[in-house]
Amino acid sequence: MSVDSVFRTRSLGVGAVGLPDQYADGKAAKVWQLYIGDTRSRTEEYKTWVVSLLKEHKVQKILDVACGTGVDSIMLVEEGFKMTSVDASDKMLKYALKERWERRKESVFDQWVIEEANWLTLTEDVQKPNDGFDAVICLGNSFAHLPDFKEIADSAEEMAPPESVTKHPSQD
Ligand SMILES: C[S@@+](CC[C@H](N)C(=O)[O-])C[C@H]1O[C@@H](n2cnc3c(N)ncnc32)[C@H](O)[C@@H]1O
Repeated sequence: MSVDSVFRTRSLGVGAVGLPDQYADGKAAKVWQLYIGDTRSRTEEYKTWVVSLLKEHKVQKILDVACGTGVDSIMLVEEGFKMTSVDASDKMLKYALKERWERRKESVFDQWVIEEANWLTLTEDVQKPNDGFDAVICLGNSFAHLPDFKEIADSAEEMAPPESVTKHPSQD
């Protein structure tokens, strides 16, 4: 299934103008400020939070679904996690593949698996390790592209034993 058959919530090219402001009551803004903290250290805080959450769950093998250009995967590879990163868009994956190639002499990058896969056919598209992944992550608002949360959650649990799936919505 190509990415073009994926359900889209609004047609391409439709600007955000005219959409209601879902953050208008200011509650989300306050929570966001608390969560992010000092904006200058946002990246470091986000990294500390994600990495400690994964370590707390004794995660080693991670499947990053809808990894895009690999921004989170790269961070997690650098932190020593064993990453399999998939996305439905080869255009997005191109950037992840380029990074992997450029850093292939670093053994953690040499072992980084990057593949094209659609979450709607995840269990067919991705070869899972014998004992499954320790966690399935989907970050950076990727859930917004997916039509059926139940189906998606079932696929994630098939890829990682239910007790080991780190369910946390992050920015999503
Ligand atoms: C907003 S980007 C986020 C990418 C990445 N997670 C990040 O945080 O930078 C959403 C990604 O979801 C991918 N995507 C959309 N539908 C998908 C699907 N059904 N299966 C896999 N990836 C999908 C897109 O190709 C895109 O790379």
